[in-house]
Amino acid sequence: MILFFSGTGNSRMVAERMAVLLGERAQDMACGLHPHLDEGESLGIVFPVYAWGVPRLVNRFLSSLQVGRRYVWLLMTCGDDMGYADRRMARVLHREADSAFSVQMPNTYVCLPGFDVDSPEVAEGKVRDTLARLEDIALRVRNRESCQELTRGCMAWMKTYMLGPLFNAFLVTDRYFRTTEACIHCGLCARSCPTHDIEMQGDHPVWLHQDCTGCLRCYHHCPAHAIEWGRFTAGKGQKWPLA
Ligand SMILES: Cc1cc2nc3c(=O)[nH]c(=O)nc-3n(C[C@H](O)[C@H](O)[C@H](O)COP(=O)(O)O)c2cc1C
Ligand code: SF4
Ligand code: SF4
Repeated sequence: MILFFSGTGNSRMVAERMAVLLGERAQDMACGLHPHLDEGESLGIVFPVYAWGVPRLVNRFLSSLQVGRRYVWLLMTCGDDMGYADRRMARVLHREADSAFSVQMPNTYVCLPGFDVDSPEVAEGKVRDTLARLEDIALRVRNRESCQELTRGCMAWMKTYMLGPLFNAFLVTDRYFRTTEACIHCGLCARSCPTHDIEMQGDHPVWLHQDCTGCLRCYHHCPAHAIEWGRFTAGKGQKWPLA
């Protein structure tokens, strides 16, 4: 069984590919239902790294799941580096995973100065390299190996344990979302938000300030590129490829 969460599609792509390679089922954690796990069945957990840690939705979903002593593997997608996200996950699961891997995928974080989406060439290269690497990762998982192949990056401890909590406290919020006059009122943002945090009121999407997990799916998937977050997304791109 593979459990995954994906804001904009990177982790979904990776989870679905792993499901094919391993011949296993993949379930989206955003559906909120805990799966039935057979005794001895392995568990894969695929998620995007947020602030060198674990997305809020994933944290909440897994906190109440009993994983027991089964073989557990983590596969984290990130734009650049993942800090100690695996150790954050160990606290959520109350145990270490048997194997942990990180792969680079197109960057989705755009809400602070200096952060933007990758160029199509860079994004394409990351997807190509990652999909090729999954063959080897699947082999290791199938053999139930214990291994760690992680891109922690520089100053990993400081990023995960000092910057990460600040980021989560102040920057994982829907309070700064707004739409521009480019909005075509299609309602896709409201329909696709994984936490149902957007409601169409009349023709206009309204963020409910209830349960945003900061995934930026609304921003990247808007067909009119009509969503901004504060002042810092002005002029920035949407993720490519969209899937
Ligand atoms: C709120 C947020 C925080 C992020 N933090 C990190 C990070 O700490 N390190 C990193 O390399 N990428 C970071 N990213 C980029 C994503 O981890 C990366 O693009 C991931 O593949 C997105 O997967 P998804 O399409 O399944 O949501 C962040 C993205 C978002 C939206
Ligand atoms: S997805 Fe974009 S265009 Fe469609 S309603 Fe939302 S903001 Fe408007
Ligand atoms: S409001 Fe946007 S960023 Fe927040 S959870 Fe919904 S889709 Fe993700």
